[in-house]
Amino acid sequence: MKLFDGNILAIESSCDETSAAVITGRTVRSNIVATQIEMHQKWGGVVPEAAARAHIEAILPVIQEALDGAQVTLKEIQAIAVTNRPGLVGALSVGVTAAKALAFSQRIPLIGVHHIEGHILSILGTESEIFFPLVTLVVSGGHSEIVWVNAPGEYKILGETRDDAAGEAFDKGARLMGLGYPGGKAIEEQAKLGNPKRYPLPRALGSDTYEMSFSGLKTAMLRLVEKEGADLCVPDAAASLQAAIVDVLTDRARRAIERENPAGICVVGGVSANQSLRSSIQTLAARYGIPCFVPPFSLCTDNAGMIGLAASVRLALGDTNDFTLDALPMSDLPTLSTKSE
Ligand code: KG4
Ligand code: ZN
Repeated sequence: MKLFDGNILAIESSCDETSAAVITGRTVRSNIVATQIEMHQKWGGVVPEAAARAHIEAILPVIQEALDGAQVTLKEIQAIAVTNRPGLVGALSVGVTAAKALAFSQRIPLIGVHHIEGHILSILGTESEIFFPLVTLVVSGGHSEIVWVNAPGEYKILGETRDDAAGEAFDKGARLMGLGYPGGKAIEEQAKLGNPKRYPLPRALGSDTYEMSFSGLKTAMLRLVEKEGADLCVPDAAASLQAAIVDVLTDRARRAIERENPAGICVVGGVSANQSLRSSIQTLAARYGIPCFVPPFSLCTDNAGMIGLAASVRLALGDTNDFTLDALPMSDLPTLSTKSE
């Protein structure tokens, strides 16, 4: 796999984390994340206008910290990468504007990166040799997709969620149990102490496709919380919710391995930080005799390191953008027109 041989400064500001990183080849030399979680907690979710303002305040100090962390100066940077799609448009614009200004002032290439491509290529942040084609489970707060990765830069979505994303299912369950926002990590912590068989929750496993659905689970959680009231055992409820989500994702991954015959399977995105999900997919991969690639924890939730890794691949393919680069709220992954069978 060809990679850009120079230092890349990468910027990510698509949602509620302001992040900057320095990447050389496959090495993430620094990866600074300033999170806005505390600010959004009081509203129980991300407020777009507040997110954009917080990015404006954080972006320059975060970039400086990333340069210092990698022990490089701006003059030693050979390209600027930035998440320009999809995401909250006001939030994205802060990163895109900073990236353009830096690329212009340094007279170096600029590249806009698709946020999901960043998650997919976050596995390059491991030491492992990566084999293609891959089936990748993209599971975050905004996405639940099964993606065929023919090669870096060549993607085809095999299936996605019909309603809520897996991370949303964790977050909504956590909110119902009073565990705060975002809830994935809190659910995982509680689940360690709980019995996953205590509360039977639905698993939408029936269909023959790669589609997923988590809204039934959310409704079932709501009913459970209402029915049990003060008697609800939070660790058992958290463990039951986590097991239901992990079962659905593992079932779809199994289906994809059986039908698509990939050289490996990956789990990426914020929910891939979940140890129970990682173990379940690793066990599945071992059963089929293929490798399982997961990013290091620091590259699971939103961060600029993964954006730099994707840029390393894209720049080596000859891709760059000019200064008309725009922030786009919605955008499809670069897709394959036909998948090699
Ligand atoms: O990738 P990400 O940072 O943002 C999006 O692109 O959406 O993912 C955030 C999501 C949240 O829903 C959060 O609850 C979930 O990832 N998450 C987890 C864990 N850590 C973060 N879910 C389950 N277990 C975790 N340990
Ligand atoms: Zn993300």
